[in-house]
Amino acid sequence: MAIIGQGYVGLPLAMAAVDAGWTVIGIDNFEGKVAQINSGKSPVEDISDMQLQIALASGAYRASVDFSSVAKASVITICVPTPLDDKREPDLSLLQSAVSAIAPFVSNETLVVSESTSYPGTLRDVIIPTVDSLKPKDSVKVYFASAPERVNPGDPIWNQKNTPRLVGAVDAASQVKALAFYESICDVAVSVSSPEVAEAAKLLENTFRLVNIALVNEFTQLCASTGVDVHEVIDAASSKPYGFMPFRPGVGVGGHCIPVDPLYLTWWARQNGGRAEFVEKADSINHAMPKYVAQRALALVDPSVDKPRVLILGVAYKPGVRDIRETPVAALRDFLIGQGVDVAWHDPIVASWGDSQSVDLKWECDVAILATYQPGMDVVQLIKRGTKILDCTNSGLNGENISSI
Ligand SMILES: NC(=O)c1ccc[n+]([C@@H]2O[C@H](COP(=O)([O-])OP(=O)(O)OC[C@H]3O[C@@H](n4cnc5c(N)ncnc54)[C@H](O)[C@@H]3O)[C@@H](O)[C@H]2O)c1
Repeated sequence: MAIIGQGYVGLPLAMAAVDAGWTVIGIDNFEGKVAQINSGKSPVEDISDMQLQIALASGAYRASVDFSSVAKASVITICVPTPLDDKREPDLSLLQSAVSAIAPFVSNETLVVSESTSYPGTLRDVIIPTVDSLKPKDSVKVYFASAPERVNPGDPIWNQKNTPRLVGAVDAASQVKALAFYESICDVAVSVSSPEVAEAAKLLENTFRLVNIALVNEFTQLCASTGVDVHEVIDAASSKPYGFMPFRPGVGVGGHCIPVDPLYLTWWARQNGGRAEFVEKADSINHAMPKYVAQRALALVDPSVDKPRVLILGVAYKPGVRDIRETPVAALRDFLIGQGVDVAWHDPIVASWGDSQSVDLKWECDVAILATYQPGMDVVQLIKRGTKILDCTNSGLNGENISSI
């Protein structure tokens, strides 16, 4: 099989497929990443160097920049990013370029699956017409399906194998092929009636998270303004054995999925003459959180301090990953800088971020904002020093210098 895109989704898929007995070529257009992978150094946290090296040594896997090698594949999966553009609308340019690059080499009887998250209709209206117009003339039959990836980087329990996979194909023959493929690498493949159902389900899953996080972020602000401990309230509500699922407040939402995918939904709604107003509102509530957090932190600083120094702890969008895509900490930092604050950040697993570097915890500050509690982060050192800390992570840290959002 061939996997296009060897990132957070594509590389774990490649390893899962190797484990299931497939011979895999991982294609990526980023030469540096291909070289790194082939040298046995994993670019993603979920795959260890050792696991990658074993797969490489077995001969069952290698990475390449050569799209023509997909000609040998009976299954091609597409796992390239689907971000937002400057207008915060779907940017399918990487997906389109990946599809255009593979299309001339898609062999007859090949199954092409899109795992990239996108709006309903992407497989049918974007991917299939491109492959059909560029494929070799003797590739009479190509099978197509959508099987959106659900991987949760850094999750110790749920992975490619044990997370059920939605599979929706364009026709019955494609569905049979796609189900057989996913049943070979996943414990459960869930058949749905069309690619649009699979694509829409993926958007619903991540929008569900976005709106619940927004709800709790809004609720947090209400509780804080009235002196009620939101975490105690969430714990209390969680004692209900049905109909409630706890979400925790934070600096906002980050990563390549939760802040992005719901905007594919709002865009899709507008394209179809509707509005997803509830989702738009949730997006704007989450976007306002960095400012709220900054204001809460600055309120902890002695008013006589002229130019406050704020240390942000953790810049990745969630603990255990180095991924800083869409991190809400960027807006937090920018807001603080806009207020004339001297800002530094510390993250034990993110060495550099743009043109700035992680500072030592000894960096003197008036207040520290615990944005992402990374493994190996020595917050206790700050507590012992008496540094004021605004905890945005519900970490359970105790001390008179610790406040919680
Ligand atoms: N990261 C997640 O947690 C996650 C979870 C579920 C679904 N997804 C979805 O999976 C898709 C991929 O996300 P990701 O996090 O793996 O991205 P990623 O950035 O980690 O990896 C994507 C890889 O694709 C490569 N690439 C980009 N354009 C290419 C092209 N035209 N041809 C070949 N390679 C190309 C990049 O160099 C990169 O290595 C997205 O649609 C995303 O929404 C991501």
